[in-house]
This record gives sequence, C-alpha cells and structure tokens, in this order.
Amino acid sequence: MFGNLETLPADPILGVTAAFRRDTATDKVDLGVGVYRDDLGNTPVPSAIREAERELLAAQTSKTYVGPAGNVEFNERIVALALGPLAESLKERTATIQTVGGCGALRIGAELIRASNPRAVVHVSDPTWANHEPLVGSSGLTLQRYPYYDPATRQVAFEPMMEQLERLPAEAVVLLHGCCHNPTGVDLSPTQWVIVAETLARRGLVPFVDLAYQGFGDDLEADVAGLRIVAERVPQFLLAVSCSKNFGVYRERTGVLAIVAESPAVATAIATHQARTARRMYSMPPDHGAAVVARLLADERLRALWESELRDMVARMKSLRALLAERLEARRPDHDFSWLTRQRGMFSLLGIDPAAIAELRDRHHVYVPPDGRINIAGVSEVNVDRVADSIVGVMGS
Ligand code: LMR
Repeated sequence: MFGNLETLPADPILGVTAAFRRDTATDKVDLGVGVYRDDLGNTPVPSAIREAERELLAAQTSKTYVGPAGNVEFNERIVALALGPLAESLKERTATIQTVGGCGALRIGAELIRASNPRAVVHVSDPTWANHEPLVGSSGLTLQRYPYYDPATRQVAFEPMMEQLERLPAEAVVLLHGCCHNPTGVDLSPTQWVIVAETLARRGLVPFVDLAYQGFGDDLEADVAGLRIVAERVPQFLLAVSCSKNFGVYRERTGVLAIVAESPAVATAIATHQARTARRMYSMPPDHGAAVVARLLADERLRALWESELRDMVARMKSLRALLAERLEARRPDHDFSWLTRQRGMFSLLGIDPAAIAELRDRHHVYVPPDGRINIAGVSEVNVDRVADSIVGVMGS
C-alpha cells in the first residue's frame, strides 16, 4: 500500500511559506501567503478576538458536540454581516452551514452542486486564487475559466468577461470574488456588478460568491455592495464566507456556506444535504473560531473594537500600497505603478515572468507565489526599499 504514490510538488502558496522558512538569510521578505502582517512582520490576534476568547473560556461549561451545521448563531450573524437587510428577507430560502474555513465552504458548495447536477460546469475567473481549481475540481465537477483580468491595463477585462458569460448555458455556475479579487486586487465596479448580476439572472446562471476579504478593501459595507446587487437580482446563489482575514482567526478554520434557494422547500432539502455532506467528510466543524466570532459580533463594545482594528489594518495596507508605488516610481520613473494604489485588498500581480520570480527568491530572498502575486501586507516601512530594489532588479526594461 502507498508505494505507488509519488511525491507531489509543493502547494503554489503554502510551498512559498515553507521555502521562506527554510531560507536562513536575515533580510528575507515573505510576500507569499495571504495573511495580514504588522510593521514587525507578525500576524497579531486582534484585541477584540482576544477579549472574546477570554470571555468564552470563562463562560464555557461544556465541550460536547455541536452538530454538523455548527454554531447556528454564528451562521446567522455572518450571513447578516454579508447580506445586511437581505439576510432577513431571504432567510426562509437560505440554508446555512458552518464550515472548515472558506475552503470548506467552497468544497461543500461544490459537493452540493455535484449532487444536484454532476454535469454542472463551474466557471472561474482567469486568473483566480491558486486553490480554487483544486478545491472545487476535486469534487469531480468540471471547471472552465472566463476572462477577468487584462494584464496590459491591469484592470478588469470586462468586455471579454461579459462575452463569455453571455455564451454560458443556463445553470452554469459562475464563481465570483466578492471583493479584493485574489490574486489581482482588481474588483468589478458597482456598475459592472449590476451588469453581471442582470446577465446572471437573465441567463439563469448560478453565482457562487467567494467572500474571503469583507472589510479588507474599503469597508465592511462597501465591500459587499456587489454581493448584495447579485443577491437582489438572482433567484438562487451560493455564498462562501471566510473569517480568516477580517477576524484574524486563520488557524481556527472558521467559515460559512450559505445557499439561497428558489423556495423555502428547496432550502430545507439543501440543509439536509449540507449536514450529510459535512458528516460524511469530517462530521462537524471546529467550534472555537465560530464561538469567538459569534460572541464578538453579539457584543456592541467588542464589535466596535473589532471594526476599528479592521479599519486600521485596511488603512495600513492602503498606505503600504502608496509607499511601495512611490518607491518603485522613484527607481523607475519610466514606469507607471499607479495600479498599486488603484487595486484593493491584500494582493496585486507584479506581472513578472517565472525567471524573474525565481531571481527574486534566489538572489534577493523575496518570496512570492508562482503567479507573481504580492501580499502587500508583507511590505513594511523597514523593508520597502529592499522590496522596491528587488522588484526593479528583476523587472527588465
Ligand atoms: C492566500 O491566498 O494566500 C490565502 O487565502 C491562504 C491560502 O490558503 O492560500
């Protein structure tokens, strides 16, 4: 047994973290995995989360099983955070399950799509997060790509995207990034969201919105404007939410899958499938992250503290974008780096080739994934000049 298994190549994102850890250079810089970092390069636990954890531990009287759907209060609060007032009006048609992070939500969503229609095709943006295709594809569903990003303009390739969406058959699933598109940092404008949503509705396409960065782009409300535009117009959609980044609970694997169905009866059936899928894969989600987030969201003071910590993180990322653009422009005034400040969230694509990415790593000890994505939060006041020198050093003419 197992002798036939070959050693696999490293994961495109997690492999960068492993390689970075092995590097003994003291001035190495990790711009790989998407985690928020402070000026010292640490990924802190937000104070609001710490406080909620302390309260939870003091109040917890049992660690008995919760159930496959997880923490129901957490599920409701997260859906309300994402959908706002729509959460209430769609409640009867919504089936929600707590998941093992946003990844678990994507995977259970894929399993349910497959259970309903094994021939369904899931269309993902080109490019998309490096784990989307493996994660959704390992359910057995077929995946295809739709145009999304124009590397020449560093903006959304909207016309080609719409041409493709107009060609898809009814019931095709379209995976959309709710905000802070990973890896490009380029989001649809509100006007574009309306056009996309109306096309999805008219053509009977099924949106699957991946919301991993609510609050990381502009703010908690603005970042879900597109999602709500979709939710108002389509009869059914899937929503995968991750709490990893905005609540800083990465390793607690905290997420939600909400499926809004065409009728309450269908939602009731979906809930049974969600629970059975979870039970057959891992039985139940871990409790801690969800219990902490639910407690935080229920407490006005903790919630306000969390929102202010989130605002600080976003302000810092925006200022780092401006700082890096300024330092790059100073070194290469013949190049336009304003895209860095136009893009949103943690990520942007450098647009450099694999040889340049290898040179960044081997010569400059600056680590980025194979698609040339940078995590802007890995830049700091301390390393920004080194990062800018390294990037222009591999850029070519
Ligand atoms: C990322 O894109 O780097 C994060 O979402 C972490 C991950 O699991 O890939």
